[in-house]
Amino acid sequence: MLPFEHKTVLDKWGVNFQPFISEKVSVVVGDVSCEGLGIHDFHLKEEILKETDMVLNFAAITKFDERYDVALGTNTFGALNVLDFSKKCAKVKLVVHVSTAYVYGEEPGLLMEKPLRWRRARNNNNIAEVLNCETELLQNRLQELHSKKLPHKEIASDMRNLGLERAKYYGWPNTYTFTKAMAEMALLDSKGDLPLVILRPTMNPIRLPEVHKMGQAFFSKDPWRDRHEKPVKVGNGLTDFDDTNLEELRKRTSEKGLYEVDGVELNMDTRSINWEDYIMNVHIPGLVKFVMK
Ligand SMILES: NC(=O)c1ccc[n+]([C@@H]2O[C@H](COP(=O)([O-])OP(=O)(O)OC[C@H]3O[C@@H](n4cnc5c(N)ncnc54)[C@H](OP(=O)(O)O)[C@@H]3O)[C@@H](O)[C@H]2O)c1
Repeated sequence: MLPFEHKTVLDKWGVNFQPFISEKVSVVVGDVSCEGLGIHDFHLKEEILKETDMVLNFAAITKFDERYDVALGTNTFGALNVLDFSKKCAKVKLVVHVSTAYVYGEEPGLLMEKPLRWRRARNNNNIAEVLNCETELLQNRLQELHSKKLPHKEIASDMRNLGLERAKYYGWPNTYTFTKAMAEMALLDSKGDLPLVILRPTMNPIRLPEVHKMGQAFFSKDPWRDRHEKPVKVGNGLTDFDDTNLEELRKRTSEKGLYEVDGVELNMDTRSINWEDYIMNVHIPGLVKFVMK
């Protein structure tokens, strides 16, 4: 977390940004939806498997209504592919998976930072069964659509509707949160002895009702319109997230002086952010421009 006066990492590092990043980061093209993460260069892959200490996976399709095959392939099976790859890394000590605070779906009340387990539903006892069932259903539907020789646009639209349908069938509001939730459960199921940390980002420390109030204020002034040009009503939120684990981490990191990396103090206190300014002037305008298209 950067102090608020530095809005971007680039502001903070200035001309030293490029050398700093080049020294620390190498870019490798890959695709988490493929086994082996789609890294085709044999020697490069061997080197990564030999040298990696820690794996951090934040790759995801964040569109709420992405095609089901794409969202499931990236968010759920992608996370499992990263886990499989990590297991093959000789020195790996930790896998960090970036999830989302919204994995609980539409459950009201205080949501605890506890591992998510499959709630027995729709004849499925565990997450492995659900994934088998969803894979089979997807394959059958795709086969059917291709056999009808439908245009790409129609197949894509059918796949998008299928994602939303399956999410609602199991009790989630959209394809994104459903596929991210399944990833968490499948990772816990398959991690074996590998230490795994699941992070569920949200906007701490403001409470969700405050975000909704800001959303209402923003959209009352400038209503967002759906595809049919009808203004969309912004509802009230009922959910709240527990952040005891995060607070504990912040406390311990601070006690041990771990706030400093390479002589630079990292500010992890999210309370130093002007959240109202961020939500009203960055977050919602960003959502409107890039997501709610
Ligand atoms: N932003 C938030 O408010 C928020 C809140 C909660 C959780 N999260 C989680 O945080 C993570 C990052 O989110 P973000 O907001 O930064 O999303 P983002 O801007 O859409 O970034 C997602 C990244 O995943 C990459 N990606 C997508 N499909 C991939 C694939 N098959 N193989 C490899 N990489 C792939 C994308 O690469 P390309 O650009 O090349 O497509 C992109 O760099 C996600 O896991 C998301 O669920 C975000």
